[in-house]
Amino acid sequence: MSQHLISPSILTADFLHLESEIEMVNQSEADLLHLDIMDGVFVPNLSFGFPVIRQIKKVARKPLDVHLMIVDPDRYLEAYRDAGADWLTVHYETCTHLHRTIQKIRELGMKPAVSVNPHTDVSLLEPILKDLNMVLIMTVNPGFGGQKFIEGSWDKIRKLKKMIVEAGADTLIQVDGGVTQENIGALIQAGVDVFVVGNTIFSAENPSQVTSNLKNSSQ
Ligand code: DX5
Ligand code: ZN
Repeated sequence: MSQHLISPSILTADFLHLESEIEMVNQSEADLLHLDIMDGVFVPNLSFGFPVIRQIKKVARKPLDVHLMIVDPDRYLEAYRDAGADWLTVHYETCTHLHRTIQKIRELGMKPAVSVNPHTDVSLLEPILKDLNMVLIMTVNPGFGGQKFIEGSWDKIRKLKKMIVEAGADTLIQVDGGVTQENIGALIQAGVDVFVVGNTIFSAENPSQVTSNLKNSSQ
């Protein structure tokens, strides 16, 4: 069995029954719980804020993998820690002093990750690779669930994997967007460690079974 991790994104979950959706994730083979935070400025959509995250933290038994799609995230790092984030991902495109932001996230006791949009070259992260627990390659344009995987992502994943091996780093590679039961095997083979999965899990008849299938997929 492969060592890859599954991080279900609740963006397409049923928000009228959020507690039972999270309970499904608790009881599944998922490793993390992915929360998409959108500000309507960095991305053309809004999601949810601190009160919802605090409520989720009360019932979630998987670590919270919080993906910030917001401008100037430095203003809120402490607030996300206080709300319950265990992993905190900021976008490369939103941070002027990215190194400082990463150090701050670690000082606050969270695991820092940086995300790159489809147009952003992963080689820009080379100088800070060893400071990161994870790099998130966006495999769709951020803002919405249920989009199609961007094929240009394959080269980025392989390039990042090579950078990590050459640097002797233990940084994980995460992908987010368009992950399915059909493409996960090839993604594992390309070197992906952590899979964010929204639509494929939450639109399924049996989300727990699909989570198990994804977890037990091999290359
Ligand atoms: C998109 C979000 C994703 C999204 C993935 O901006 O970052 O986490 O929920 O959804 P799927 O798996 O449906 O593409
Ligand atoms: Zn996400």
